[in-house]
Amino acid sequence: PKPTEVTPAVIMKSYACQRRTPLKHHNSFLTEALEILAENAEFSENEGRSVAFRRSASVLKALPYVVRAMNELKDLPCLGEHSLRVIKEILEDGTSSEVESTRQSEQFQAMKALTGVFGVGARTADRWFREGLRSPEDLIRTGQKLNHAQQAGVQYYTDLNTPVTEKEAMVISDIVEKAVKAVLPGAIITLTGGFRRGKEVGHDVDFLITHPEEGAEERLMPKIVNWLEDQGLLLYQKTTRNSYLESKDGPARPPSNMDRFERCFSIFKLEQAQVNSDTRLEASSCNFGTTDGTQECHSGSSWRAVRVDLVVSPYSQFAFATLGWTGSKLFERELRRWAGQEKGMSLSSHALYDSKQQRYLHAISEEDIFAHLGLEYIPPSERNA
Ligand code: CTP
Ligand code: MN
Ligand code: MN
Ligand code: MN
Repeated sequence: PKPTEVTPAVIMKSYACQRRTPLKHHNSFLTEALEILAENAEFSENEGRSVAFRRSASVLKALPYVVRAMNELKDLPCLGEHSLRVIKEILEDGTSSEVESTRQSEQFQAMKALTGVFGVGARTADRWFREGLRSPEDLIRTGQKLNHAQQAGVQYYTDLNTPVTEKEAMVISDIVEKAVKAVLPGAIITLTGGFRRGKEVGHDVDFLITHPEEGAEERLMPKIVNWLEDQGLLLYQKTTRNSYLESKDGPARPPSNMDRFERCFSIFKLEQAQVNSDTRLEASSCNFGTTDGTQECHSGSSWRAVRVDLVVSPYSQFAFATLGWTGSKLFERELRRWAGQEKGMSLSSHALYDSKQQRYLHAISEEDIFAHLGLEYIPPSERNA
């Protein structure tokens, strides 16, 4: 660094997939505020508004310095009028009145508590809010009709809202590895989601499973689930079978952004003893070792509930699936927007279609996909947009 330099000259590209966004950055005091407003917009199903706040926050996450004055923002993309107003207020007063009143509002707090129930989305939570319900306790007290997912969500509410640690994620990785290898030797299991991006905690643990022999992975999930159930490791599971082949709307254009892989949204029963006693894991890697092996048993129980997502992909789609399930959600959204708007291509977790050439582009690695898209490769740890 040159001592004469005053403000660092930063070239900020406008799509998040063109930038490196580390997990730890310099502007949490601003991004956390903007993300409250994004979350609030999601609660009222205002997607455009929510994405605008998320994009603003994401630009600040990619800055290599702490923002101290408004003039440091003048050349940055994606910062809309509303976001700038919020940032200005925080820089001047230390807090934003809009953000603080949102945070304190009964509606925001109730929506947060109600959408915190596994299986409950913004629409359902909003209906309950308008009926006067505020918390999961209210759902039980008033005898609300709940589906199976929501019943599990209420039952394990506290556990599922307790962040999953890296150490717990590693124990679950071992279990998933064992289950998958038992029912399909030679299968490949990849940790995806936030933990692949280097997060220290997560709301769940995400896995992608494949097999080098195309077709060997078909109908694999029920076998994995049966194995786990036989071991008494599952508290809840919902398996959805692969619907990619029978889809009529074209492989690269699934309705919404939902992919069509065989998948299982589950809740694992994780023995605390396994997490606390596993010294082998502590010593095994710098990523997953912890300094403190003396974690308390959660709420006096010998086990706790943990959300786990399992996805099975054919080998030919594995690179796309890996990219699609590593996140972050904004990074994924920006990749698809880049593909469509800048390249005339259509990207999904299954494939990349080039509209001009009218053909699918082959990829065996994430690097291949970035190259097809004309993007510099961004490693998972810098996809924390
Ligand atoms: N994803 C998806 N389809 C879903 C759910 C998730 O493609 N129905 C993708 C998301 O786009 C994301 C990844 O799966 O890229 C992980 O999602 P999720 O577990 O919700 O988020 P994480 O980034 O892992 O963060 P967290 O630590 O909160 O779990
Ligand atoms: Mn930095
Ligand atoms: Mn996750
Ligand atoms: Mn997930």
